[in-house]
Amino acid sequence: MVKKISSVPTHVAIIMDGNGRWALSRGLPRLAGHRAGTENLRRIITACVEFGVKYLTIYAFSTENWGRPREEVDGLMHILEDVIDRELAELHKEGVQLRHIGRLERLDPKIQEKVLEAIELTKDNDRLVLNVAFNYGGRDEIICAIQKIIRDDVAPENVTADLVGRYLFTAGVPDPDLIIRTSGELRVSNFLIWQGAYSEWYVTSTYWPDFDKDAFRKALDTYARRDRRYGGLSKIDEDKPQHA
Ligand code: FPP
Repeated sequence: MVKKISSVPTHVAIIMDGNGRWALSRGLPRLAGHRAGTENLRRIITACVEFGVKYLTIYAFSTENWGRPREEVDGLMHILEDVIDRELAELHKEGVQLRHIGRLERLDPKIQEKVLEAIELTKDNDRLVLNVAFNYGGRDEIICAIQKIIRDDVAPENVTADLVGRYLFTAGVPDPDLIIRTSGELRVSNFLIWQGAYSEWYVTSTYWPDFDKDAFRKALDTYARRDRRYGGLSKIDEDKPQHA
């Protein structure tokens, strides 16, 4: 029997790091690592549906990734297109709703069109919302939100955390409960810097292509044991006698 996870995070976000090192350690080109990472993503999406995670956000291409060699950038664009061509029907069948966060404008118009079609096709699915962060940067997202707030003539006293949240690419999506980073790097890398203010972090040295269902389950089990305090006190501390 499969052991139940006691407290499943509603929203998991993942920095899928280590594809390049995974490939290089096998004497393969970096793109082979991204392809292996894409296959693994498929397994983790299925695991999210099985474990009851409702939102999954993946960092697939950052605003800084344009600085990588042309071949790698083109390869990642091709992977996005290929995933839509090959996986969309199955994802739709599984009840996955596809969303995009980031700026679509800089992508090839053909890819933009495919992304928009995939979003439209899956918009009523509700088993899992898959947010694909592609050409995404946290600072860029905040700049974009500020520009829209100013354009909308919002009075300064009406600018609240709640309002800012409604101007972000993730509007309508709850903040991530758990952010996972594979490959051991201890950096935020411009990922969900507003939304992650109180997320729990889980970092593992495992490279993304090897981060399988068992590893994912271990991350969720670790999360289930965390005491989330949001800057306050835990229930146990609150019940203790207080001394001034
Ligand atoms: C970071 O590893 C990974 C990326 C920049 C790309 C992640 C993309 C995928 C897994 C493909 C899935 C894509 C879509 C569109 C669904 P790295 O290359 O920085 O690894 P390294 O630090 O070992 O060099």
